Amino acid sequence: MTADPVAGRPGPADRTRVFSGMQPSGAVHLGNLLGALRSWVVLQDEADCTYAVVDLHAITAPDEHDPAALAPRTLDLATTLLAAGIDPDRSVLFVQSHVREHAELAWLLNCVATFGELGRMPQFRDKSAGRDASVSVGLFDYPVLQTADIILYHADRVPVGEDQRHHIELARDIAQRFNHRFGPTFTLPRAMLPPVAARVMDLQEPTRKMSKSTTSERGIVHVLDAPDAIAAKFRSAVTDSDGEVRADREAKPGVTNLLEILAAVTGGTVEHAVAAHGGGGYGALKAAVAEAVVEHLRPVRARHAELAADPAEVGRVLAAGAERARAVAAPTLARARDAMGFLAPA
Ligand code: TRP
Repeated sequence: MTADPVAGRPGPADRTRVFSGMQPSGAVHLGNLLGALRSWVVLQDEADCTYAVVDLHAITAPDEHDPAALAPRTLDLATTLLAAGIDPDRSVLFVQSHVREHAELAWLLNCVATFGELGRMPQFRDKSAGRDASVSVGLFDYPVLQTADIILYHADRVPVGEDQRHHIELARDIAQRFNHRFGPTFTLPRAMLPPVAARVMDLQEPTRKMSKSTTSERGIVHVLDAPDAIAAKFRSAVTDSDGEVRADREAKPGVTNLLEILAAVTGGTVEHAVAAHGGGGYGALKAAVAEAVVEHLRPVRARHAELAADPAEVGRVLAAGAERARAVAAPTLARARDAMGFLAPA
């Protein structure tokens, strides 16, 4: 680990700092769990981790923002993160809007980020395509808020999916520009992308990533789905007609997805999965994957039920998390304000 160029960064300088966030935009699915969340849990063993439920990001698309659903979804995502193994004794877990420094730093960074670079972000271009007049400024500015999230905690590493790579590169550019213009203030972050095998595809359209914006609910397995619902979804998973159990992403995306999910939840490899199930038919493979997924999710579901029975306790965990987050974020913001030349309040 190279020496930290930013003086005043809290904690041991040789520990990697990790930050990541997840939007409270609906139930967590197997793609979230095996992609992002599993690496969040594992990273706790080797790094100082800070994880946020990014509710401020969840209001950037007006058609997805339901005020009545926002708070329950935020609480439920936090509950699911805890159930899946985020350990509040080792990591900081909090709700983004509870730490005001995020919104304030985002404003300062708005005056460093450029219109051009934000306009080039592929995610913005996709989401805004053909609707310039009705897209919120918040959607355009989304990556700047994300930058603030990351650099408030001096994160070196940001575990995210491939779709976030440009946002993390932008965060690095903005942090670097700030340091150059106003003096060394922020650590420059880098993305940590999951291995390809962590990409879970839709069960009905196996060439598409599993995502909440799916066309059919049957294509998506939620972490809290009941066992018989999970079995039914795998039973109806789309495969192909050649009948051979082997992995080939191009020619056999459905069967390959099943094999990869099986490998991911059993901790084995796709080769193992083929060796174990290559002799059988698709029906037997689907049953085996469903059973392995149900077993993998069983403890998460049980823990979620326990935690959900005591929402006040989850609230206390989040309040303590916000306080710990603020203890890092507030001095970082103060340094940024100072570097930019603001009059300090008396
Ligand atoms: N944009 C991220 C996503 O949709 C969520 C996010 C918000 C995030 N702030 C972040 C991820 C900071 C990593 C770091 O997945």
